[in-house]
Amino acid sequence: MSGGASAGEPGKEVDQISGLIPESVIEEVKARNELVAVVEQYVRLDKKSGSNFFGLCPFHEEKTPSFSVSPAKQIYYCFGCHKGGDVIHFIMDMEKCAYPQAIRLLAERAGVTIPEPDDVAWQQRNERNKALQAICLEAARHFYRDLMSPEGRSVQAYLKKRALSPAVCKKFGLGYARDEWDSLLRHLNSLGYKDEELLIQSGLFRRGKSGGLYDLFRHRLMFPIMDAMGRIIAFGGRVLDDSQPKYINSPETPIYSKGRHLYALNLAKTSKKGHLVVVEGYMDAIALHQAGVDQAVASLGTALTEYQAGLLRKYAEDVVLAYDADAAGQAATLRSLDILEQHDLKVTVLQVPEAKDPDEFIRLHGPERFHALIGKALPLLDYKLSVARAASTGDTGLDPVAYQDTACDILAQEKNAIVRELYATRLAEEISTSTEAVLQEIERRSEQPAKEGRPPTRTEQPARQQTEKTKQPLSREELYLLALVAVEPSMAVEADLRQDDFSPGPMQELAARVLARAAAGDLDTTVLIELCGDLTVRSIPLHDLISRVSMQLDELFGRQDIRQAAAEQLWRQRKYRLRSRLAELNKQLSEEIDTAARNQLLQETLQLNNRLTELKQMPDWQP
Ligand code: UTP
Ligand code: MN
Repeated sequence: MSGGASAGEPGKEVDQISGLIPESVIEEVKARNELVAVVEQYVRLDKKSGSNFFGLCPFHEEKTPSFSVSPAKQIYYCFGCHKGGDVIHFIMDMEKCAYPQAIRLLAERAGVTIPEPDDVAWQQRNERNKALQAICLEAARHFYRDLMSPEGRSVQAYLKKRALSPAVCKKFGLGYARDEWDSLLRHLNSLGYKDEELLIQSGLFRRGKSGGLYDLFRHRLMFPIMDAMGRIIAFGGRVLDDSQPKYINSPETPIYSKGRHLYALNLAKTSKKGHLVVVEGYMDAIALHQAGVDQAVASLGTALTEYQAGLLRKYAEDVVLAYDADAAGQAATLRSLDILEQHDLKVTVLQVPEAKDPDEFIRLHGPERFHALIGKALPLLDYKLSVARAASTGDTGLDPVAYQDTACDILAQEKNAIVRELYATRLAEEISTSTEAVLQEIERRSEQPAKEGRPPTRTEQPARQQTEKTKQPLSREELYLLALVAVEPSMAVEADLRQDDFSPGPMQELAARVLARAAAGDLDTTVLIELCGDLTVRSIPLHDLISRVSMQLDELFGRQDIRQAAAEQLWRQRKYRLRSRLAELNKQLSEEIDTAARNQLLQETLQLNNRLTELKQMPDWQP
């Protein structure tokens, strides 16, 4: 899972202040978060091989450990899925968060305070939001305690009737809001939360006619709503019988906007299933997680919002929509499909037969049959056509005229001609006509101007940009060289290492950074990894590549003197660079017709060839 968020950047407020975290604080955060200890919060590292720890990789499914951590170098690398980096990359990958959030998480873990920006308004907002989060957390604890108390017995019985295990209830932090007007209010007051303005802002209270506050949630089963980082920001409360409204939810608050979050995303984001399943309700999400569908999130309401689609895209490329079977659910599915497509997500639609929603389906038919449904989810076009077919089917059977009309409209939206033809053939069979006639009709409709302003989907992305990236030059020698120099920084000066020794593009950029730090006497493996920043080669993050070779150094050069090894890699790398420049000149020569220019190119070729001959043997190296 990967990808940049589009419309409306989730977590923007945090990102904006990231630039203000001083470098020294980042250094302290890194220094105080020992990698092995941090990794062990997520991964069992038991096998020690050489100087490294091994464990089962948290980033991909595996049975034998290929995830390694080097306590000496403070880096990790997985030999299976090729992810690697330092403690910050680890948290970013693990928590699926951006750099600034990772720093904040690690700072919190190690008790490092991050100085806040000087902006007074920002500080006040930040203070208030922290207080609102604390109130939500205390409220959730209060509701949970009451669920577990004798007063909560009937609610426990209700949960049991709905086949939810105590373990899953705990995982989702479910609770009970008692049948009282001020149970939560009194509790929060007793904890010192007395500021009425703040309490109102939390969305958990209302002001009565007499001017006092009263609890919004009373006699309800409580669902805490968490953001992607697992912080409680709002609540939903369900009645315990058939009365109305079935749910009430927190209003908009400074820390919660409806339609900007996905229920259970904090859990689903670490799923290894490689896709997300989107359902409508709290109950569906919880039932699915209990059934092992740990990639389920709920949109909490009807159609997905643009913002939620952007959020999904941050965590997945493939989405399975599993909305309720009723008309409202199916209408919401249709509306959500286009939004998801526009956000570059591949969507399939899962329909639950013989049940009103995924929760009921699992209760009736068991998890196994639900897993099978995920595999059989319909591709977008099939789903749209099946809806069109159903809509054109009346008491007297299928109305082919109405059906072909909608179906051709749907197929006219499809850009891929081959796909269009495949579906046209099927449609032609269904309505007993020729494929040619159907195709003609589709072409006629697709000539009408299409909707504009749609971002390109993945399949339409410029191919040129892609191939240029895959052609980026890179040698294993230069990677080794950087990893070796990080261990022996003095080598950079001694061997007269230059930026030009590296392949043009990202490698030279990294080399420039590394050489500057080596000259300043401030280079080691973690610094090297950090210097990789966002650089990629052939679309692979450089921190992954560098982690890999750094992790392998002992294996590759263990018995060799590090300086000797670096000198040898530099020699090989210089030959590699000469050869690639010769290849370039050769290409230019084959295209150049001007005699003077050709002579010039030949001269250069000759020079480079001479240098290559000089380099035939490795120069003597005295450590
Ligand atoms: P559902 O009516 O399908 O509820 O509404 P559900 O989650 O499946 O619950 P059960 O199975 O009946 O107990 C789907 C979602 O729509 C929102 C809630 O987020 C709910 O989970 N909703 C529904 C409300 O906000 N208010 C309502 O009155 C009803
Ligand atoms: Mn339901």
